[in-house]
Amino acid sequence: MRIILFSGKGGVGKTTIASATGYKLSQGGYKTIVVSLDPAHSLADAFDLTEKERFGAKGLPIRINDKLHIQEIDIQEEIDRYWGDVYRFLELLFNTTGLDEMLSEELAILPGMEEVTSLLYVNKYYKEGEYDVLILDLPPTGESLRFVSMPTVLKWYMKKVFKTEKMIMKVARPVVGRLTDVPLPDDSYFQALENFYEKLKGVDEVLIDPDVTSVRIVSNPEKMVLKESQRAYMYFNLFGVNVDGIIVNKVLPESFGDCEHLKNWLTIQKKYINEIEDYFSPTPIFKVPMLEEEVFGLERLDTLAGLIYGDKDPAQVLHKEEPYRFMKEGDGYTLKIKAPFVRKESLSILKSEEEIIIRAGNFKSHILLPRKLRDKEPDKASVRDGYIYITLV
Ligand SMILES: Nc1ncnc2c1ncn2[C@@H]1O[C@H](COP(=O)(O)OP(=O)(O)OP(=O)(O)O)[C@@H](O)[C@H]1O
Ligand SMILES: [Mg+2]
Repeated sequence: MRIILFSGKGGVGKTTIASATGYKLSQGGYKTIVVSLDPAHSLADAFDLTEKERFGAKGLPIRINDKLHIQEIDIQEEIDRYWGDVYRFLELLFNTTGLDEMLSEELAILPGMEEVTSLLYVNKYYKEGEYDVLILDLPPTGESLRFVSMPTVLKWYMKKVFKTEKMIMKVARPVVGRLTDVPLPDDSYFQALENFYEKLKGVDEVLIDPDVTSVRIVSNPEKMVLKESQRAYMYFNLFGVNVDGIIVNKVLPESFGDCEHLKNWLTIQKKYINEIEDYFSPTPIFKVPMLEEEVFGLERLDTLAGLIYGDKDPAQVLHKEEPYRFMKEGDGYTLKIKAPFVRKESLSILKSEEEIIIRAGNFKSHILLPRKLRDKEPDKASVRDGYIYITLV
């Protein structure tokens, strides 16, 4: 099975492109499901479904054709159904003053309900194996980053905190319960967490398996969007989730150049498209034109899919390579970047506030630094076996 995640800033075209991809896959014979967590029913809109077609489907898969289903998950409903006990307890807890600081800190890292819910679905469909491809239309970037980090956080929570907390509660409940108004979690809270964990087991490995999971980052040639795409690219990379494509959507047509009023937009977009190539190469970049009208309904989705993928099969892993890696070494870090054909003599390395900029002949790469490494400076650099190594101290 393949899992393809579409991530990107709000409004860039995630839902539209996820839908177009799903449709093309179904045409190619893959049994596909497109899942969205957007409460605004935008998937049904993208497929231009009638009221009747949507009716009664609430949260369940809707059939588009023999090979294609779409599903809009209502997070609130899911939370009520699965997270009820945990959620109610947290609400109670956060509304009570005098909460023990340590406990509140631990609880604060409890995974977000949205992310866990979507992970549950990923795992469910992966284990059931009924579909060849699962497409997930993720919420805007911030949340999708939490999504990929979630398995790690959850694992940590279960291992380190859960066991201790449960033990403390066993001892503390009879005593503390009598003395304070602070509510203590009862067994149903732990049971709910345990059930959850059971259902999520294995999903972390699925997400970091590049033969199964790909992220496609949807972007637009605009300053703010580009920054966010860069950030997303770094995070997915840090968490070991393979980004196999950058889809630059809403590229304006050349004919804008004929209009005095719009001409400047072309120049601006070209500048950002060049930057996109610097930032994300060698990850493949797909430029998708702004169509003449909004994209909904099968015909337009089909046109859009053609413009994105051409004769490529969207189910394929379009690229599989870790573009760079931060390795901890002693007190410092080493940044390892794949850069074949680069010679040490031509290497120049600059650091701005939050980026490392590497140039060598035609090779140019901007690498956004994780927050933790922003105050580090490049120290030594070397080139070996097609990789550049830069130590940061
Ligand atoms: N290439 C395109 N040409 C023309 N219109 C487009 C194109 N791509 C997307 N759109 C339109 O842009 C709008 C926003 O797209 P979409 O809803 O897919 O974005 P999104 O990233 O899912 O947004 P949100 O973050 O709000 O979920 C829609 O009206 C869609 O039809
Ligand atoms: Mg959307």
